Amino acid sequence: MKIDVTHIDSEDTQIHGLPSAVFKDSEIFQQESETILRKGWVSIASAQQLKNVGDILPVRMGDASLIAIRSEDQKISVFHNVCRHKAAPIIDKPCRVRTLSCPYHRWAYKLDGSLRSAPKFFGNSDRELTEEEKSDKGLIEVRSVVWWDTIFVNISGDAEPFEDFIKPLDQILEGYDSNDLHRISSTEYESKSNWKLAVDNFLDGYHVPFVHSQAVRLNSVMNQEDLFLSDNIIGLKLPSGASDKPAKTDKPLPTFKHLNKDNIGTQQWFGIFPNTLLFVDPVWVQLIIVRPEAYDFYTETLTIYAANPDTMSPEYDKQRETLSNVLNHVNEQDIELLDKLQITRTSPEADKGILVQAWDQVNVKFHQIWLEKMKQQ
Ligand SMILES: [Fe+2]
Repeated sequence: MKIDVTHIDSEDTQIHGLPSAVFKDSEIFQQESETILRKGWVSIASAQQLKNVGDILPVRMGDASLIAIRSEDQKISVFHNVCRHKAAPIIDKPCRVRTLSCPYHRWAYKLDGSLRSAPKFFGNSDRELTEEEKSDKGLIEVRSVVWWDTIFVNISGDAEPFEDFIKPLDQILEGYDSNDLHRISSTEYESKSNWKLAVDNFLDGYHVPFVHSQAVRLNSVMNQEDLFLSDNIIGLKLPSGASDKPAKTDKPLPTFKHLNKDNIGTQQWFGIFPNTLLFVDPVWVQLIIVRPEAYDFYTETLTIYAANPDTMSPEYDKQRETLSNVLNHVNEQDIELLDKLQITRTSPEADKGILVQAWDQVNVKFHQIWLEKMKQQ
């Protein structure tokens, strides 16, 4: 199958969403990897997953293999997980090390990515590489930034400055102190569905009282507002979402410090194009990082944060566990649904689907953003 995205009708997308073919085409996926995932700002992990110096997390992002490292100066850096000798992957699971050692020919790298040693580089000679000779053989670094504990990368290196990209969301979230976020849990998931379905689903408030009826009642979602912040950031808002819904824990958790009175009962959630899904409640934050690996496979990390450092005290041990269980249960329900949706949403009949004015406009905008980015390649 060959799909030319320049021929996808924008007006048709408005009504039916993106054609079913773009959810099941490996050439489209390759194109997404080369354009959207490499040229934009994509998230790969939570910074608090890397607690100590030497902590390393390998991730796949489209056709790229990356590692995030907490280096000696406590800073997080990101490199291609590709040895400079014969391109072997260096790290294959999360670990804590002082030296990164390639399993293929034992080229070794420091935590700052520079080459430490390459055994017998000159063959049958005692000579070692000089510092100058090593200087062009370090791991290839990727442009990265940490925002709201989320590690973002721009693989191509030439996307707009991150501050400009995120500014509209920074403005909306002024008054929420992201420095107070404390990680409660991170859970890994995988799904046999297209990554765009995960984004659609996160930005679909309509399904919530039906798929997650244990957590949310229909009348709690009736005042949903669409948020169109920029050509990269969209979302939804329930002005009294937190106050309308039953609390997730028996004892209420403390809110963000100094939170504006108007936001005490508010829930907002955002899709930061392409793969960052951020839910902000007055007392907790949920971050889902979707990592596409194939047109019908992605992995994701669901991280739950307390919005106030006091939540981390032993007094709230039980409530943190409950919160984590409740939110992970919701995510399991979503993944179960998405795995099935992959089959029907990629059938030709899906192209006759009718998107609804009242509920689906944020999904439509996501599809239009996708289309624009794919046409810009
Ligand atoms: Fe859901």
